[in-house]
Amino acid sequence: MPSETINILAIESSCDETSAAVIQNGKVLSNTIATQKVHERYGGVVPELASRAHMQNIVPVVDAALADAGVNKAEITAVAFTQAPGLIGSLLVGTCFAKAFAQALHLPLIAVHHMQAHVLAHFIEDKPDFPFLCLTVSGGHTQIVLCRDYLDMEVLGETIDDAAGEAFDKVAKMMGLPYPGGPLIDKYAAEGDPLRFKFPMSEMKDYEFSFSGVKTSVLYFLQAQRKIDPDFAEKNRNDICASVQHTIVNMLMAKLRKAAKELNIKQVGIAGGVSANSGLRKAIKEAGEKYGWKVYIPRFEYCTDNAAMIGITGYHKFLKGDFADMSVTPTARATWH
Ligand code: KG4
Ligand code: ZN
Repeated sequence: MPSETINILAIESSCDETSAAVIQNGKVLSNTIATQKVHERYGGVVPELASRAHMQNIVPVVDAALADAGVNKAEITAVAFTQAPGLIGSLLVGTCFAKAFAQALHLPLIAVHHMQAHVLAHFIEDKPDFPFLCLTVSGGHTQIVLCRDYLDMEVLGETIDDAAGEAFDKVAKMMGLPYPGGPLIDKYAAEGDPLRFKFPMSEMKDYEFSFSGVKTSVLYFLQAQRKIDPDFAEKNRNDICASVQHTIVNMLMAKLRKAAKELNIKQVGIAGGVSANSGLRKAIKEAGEKYGWKVYIPRFEYCTDNAAMIGITGYHKFLKGDFADMSVTPTARATWH
């Protein structure tokens, strides 16, 4: 191995995926993800069960990432891990593992912000120009981020209540669909009429979002309709899914268009789990054609939670000499730094 080779071992454990990746000089060699199935029957992530599953998964997942990459422990240059934000018990598992690994092998440690990593997932394969505008939409976050450079980002606006993914999942739950319901809404929406039912779009200031209103209006709508026909949701499943998806996508796109226009940015992307949504993908591609944007959508495995995005962020922090010391601890909530 030439001495200039930089191998970053990256660990992600903020929610319900245990993931490890090896990044060599900014290129992904491996990206292993263990998705926790244990939460499905509860209709959402159960924090304590997530921590326990991370405990079971972390060593085999790291072993698999090293084996897939064909890199051994002695060849690792630095260890990057998700320090915030996320479920504290879950973050603790990844943080303690990363600290122990780094200490045992005398390696530098790099603390990564999960939301910054979702944005930098765009730079794993493509290389958008700066300034770059990113709509990050996941189960826990909805943000419009102005990215001036790899590590120079600003959150222009975010949701004041539910995240977009949470809205998808909660509506799915109301309809009796299993967790996570977002992908199922997407699937049924493809067969439905998006204009059949009207749900209100919240009017928020600047680049803020709110999704609790649409969620509540779907709840009241279903309650009222079920009084007339208890099987209403099942009988009209595709049209309800299409109409809800249409409403959420319209709300997201309205703010993204506003930001791109006001800041005059033509490099625009979506990131996070909800960027897998076909309605959102179609809408951003159409907007790209209409407004002359260059549109970026990461590959699916880099959209949902993964360690490769932690690794690419870790790599850029490594180049800047931005290391954490052994006193670093995880935090459930975090601002940008
Ligand atoms: O980024 P992610 O994997 O985890 C978080 O950090 O939250 O995002 C998960 C979220 C879930 O809410 C899930 O329902 C949603 O992304 N999601 C989707 C789709 N695929 C995943 N929502 C709508 N349509 C999809 N195709
Ligand atoms: Zn995430």
